[in-house]
Amino acid sequence: DKGNYRHFMEKEIYEQPEVVSHTLAHYLDLANGVAKEFDTPFDFGKIDRLAISACGTAYLAGLIGKYWFERYARLPVDIDIASEFRYREMPLSKESGALFISQSGETADTLASLRYCRQEGLPIGAIVNVRESTIARESDGVFPTLAGPEIGVASTKAFTCQLSVLASLAVKAAAARGKIDKDQEKRLVRQLSEAPKLANQTLKLSDQIEKLARDLSHYKHVLYLGRDTNFPLAMEGALKLKEISYIHAEGYAAGELKHGPIALIDEQMPVIVIAPYDRIFDKTVSNMQEVAARGGKIILITDAKGAAHSTVDTLDTIVVPDVPEIVAPIVYSLPIQMLAYYTAVFMGTDVDQPRNLAKSVTVE
Ligand code: F6R
Repeated sequence: DKGNYRHFMEKEIYEQPEVVSHTLAHYLDLANGVAKEFDTPFDFGKIDRLAISACGTAYLAGLIGKYWFERYARLPVDIDIASEFRYREMPLSKESGALFISQSGETADTLASLRYCRQEGLPIGAIVNVRESTIARESDGVFPTLAGPEIGVASTKAFTCQLSVLASLAVKAAAARGKIDKDQEKRLVRQLSEAPKLANQTLKLSDQIEKLARDLSHYKHVLYLGRDTNFPLAMEGALKLKEISYIHAEGYAAGELKHGPIALIDEQMPVIVIAPYDRIFDKTVSNMQEVAARGGKIILITDAKGAAHSTVDTLDTIVVPDVPEIVAPIVYSLPIQMLAYYTAVFMGTDVDQPRNLAKSVTVE
């Protein structure tokens, strides 16, 4: 039931503060500021690597997870697209853990990768939304996302719940590996606990984003840029635009701009930049200057400080609340989802059932 919403996708975007809150509370003791005790198929304190594989949006969640595991827990992560992982015969050590991410729990390539790791004798964990799924059943341990059923073909709330699980696991791993002390753990947990409130505030930007989407719907190509965790998020923003509005979009690491894609920049291709005011904000500003110097139109998604410090003219600036670093990917997911959603609505596409796509991809 869509309730008062036009599409399931819209409803699912708006459900995010609640489902992210449920998911975080499953892993984190928010009152005491510690990661909870929960069943895990591998000991985060002992494994020497983590191999993650997944497809599509779930893969991009895993890529953000890599930044977190490596930054906070000093745990090296190999991350692969499952259709590549299953055939590329990578050497795997039994001291590693294997982690799969899937909303449906039925994606053929992800399942095949899981079975490959099973043969290699690795302990297997899965972040899944559908508890009674094949991937859940065949894993040694399941880390559930509590997103509830996701009906829209384009993944929204499952993605932010996957991020919530990954952030929680990264904090757990950081504590288990002695890379953060009690105070740092408390701080990270407290910061994550603010995600639902910050997500709620971000949803209030819908009017501005809807207006912007009307402009965006006139373009044929869009470039998304970001650094650090905003790089996978740029790819996610591009994926969302492609799949529901059929606008050709590419997501790039901002630093890669001058290695090729800058040749595409003109007035006909807006550049959406995801750049909170963080330690590498200035680097991203230089990239925006390169875009502006070539007549590119910039849409900047940032916070109040970023808006104040940015020295480039933008077509529009979307100002989201100030967020702690670990919460940023969850909160910044919302404007990119809304932008894709409203653009598709203006274009009159079938938002919940985009052409050629299936919710569950059970063939390779
Ligand atoms: C994009 C999208 C797909 C899925 C991918 C994996 O919005 O929904 O890219 O993320 O097909 O599906 P699951 O997570 O079910 O394995």
